[in-house]
Amino acid sequence: MSQPILQLDTLRMVYNADPGILARLSGRADPPVIAADDVTLTLHPGQTLAVVGESGSGKTTAGRIATLQERPTAGRVLYEGEDVTDLTGAALKAFRAKVQMIFQNPYDALNPRLTVGQSLAEPLTLHRLVPKSGLRAAVLEMLEAVELRPAADFADAFPSELSGGQLQRIAIARALIIKPRVVIADEPVSMLDVSIRSGVMNLMRGIQKETGVTYLYITHDLSVARYMADRIAVMYLGAVLEEGPAETLISSAAHPYTRLLIQAAPEHRATAVKRARIRLPGDAASQAGLPAGCRFHPRCPLAQPVCREEVPPQKTVGPTQVAGCHFAEQVKADGLEITT
Ligand SMILES: Nc1ncnc2c1ncn2[C@@H]1O[C@H](COP(=O)(O)OP(=O)(O)OP(=O)(O)O)[C@@H](O)[C@H]1O
Ligand code: SF4
Ligand SMILES: [Mg+2]
Repeated sequence: MSQPILQLDTLRMVYNADPGILARLSGRADPPVIAADDVTLTLHPGQTLAVVGESGSGKTTAGRIATLQERPTAGRVLYEGEDVTDLTGAALKAFRAKVQMIFQNPYDALNPRLTVGQSLAEPLTLHRLVPKSGLRAAVLEMLEAVELRPAADFADAFPSELSGGQLQRIAIARALIIKPRVVIADEPVSMLDVSIRSGVMNLMRGIQKETGVTYLYITHDLSVARYMADRIAVMYLGAVLEEGPAETLISSAAHPYTRLLIQAAPEHRATAVKRARIRLPGDAASQAGLPAGCRFHPRCPLAQPVCREEVPPQKTVGPTQVAGCHFAEQVKADGLEITT
């Protein structure tokens, strides 16, 4: 496989780690939250890695660290093999030109007081990539690329005049106009009407084919991950439980949690989990009182005494598939009839 372009290397992120003496004395300190616990993710150039997980599993935290909007408590971010975790000043600015982020809510990326054209020209000016005389042409070309036509009309419009789908295309255009090598897309279609989601996803795929841009695609929807990604990483309570090639992960998941997610996605039910019948017991993921041993054990239908005591190792269960479960091999072999 190619040399990775971006790597998150054993990241740890603890929020509310040090609430301060006053908050502690008054008993009003928020409990610490381990939003990332030894998270390792590797992005290969021109490919898409999807990060899938329930709300609160740490997906956005990983994305924000990947773009250095936040610095991790421990661990490293590597860009083309170089440690960029502590970059500042001009070097940080140069990094940001290479690694861009697209947010769930396109309004976050667009200033309502600027026309679309002004918003798109801004990053070009900031990074001094295009002379003033060339801005209009660059903006129109990018609007064409995201299929907003006639481009000139869109360039002169304000965000308030546009639909959610059009705004998200503009947010994508704004991230891509400076030709980044990597785009971190944080649930970019989840706020859009279902009927226009596939259009935006196809647009992103088309742009990737043409430009070779690398995506880290964050979603809570496994079927979206499968559609968009070459590889999928499944996160749960701040940790990556399983990672592997998208199709392998769907057809022969080695972690019980991945299997439960597959079962929850109706279109996979008939094919992917043939013999296992799994229902997810217990509450949704919560950071309150992270359990000992395997963090998934309170909800795992396969939990054994060892799971409550020992953190499972990351086991290699395929050429590039790893799963953090004591019984990963058996789960992958699908010899287990799981009922609850
Ligand atoms: N700035 C912060 N301060 C304190 N806790 C935080 C902060 N940001 C995130 N968290 C906590 O870290 C955990 C992971 O949050 P994160 O936003 O990364 O999850 P997520 O997987 O993106 O969830 P969602 O699907 O809801 O977007 C959560 O428990 C969240 O409450
Ligand atoms: S280690 Fe045990 S509790 Fe954790 S996922 Fe595997 S079987 Fe379930
Ligand atoms: Mg999030």
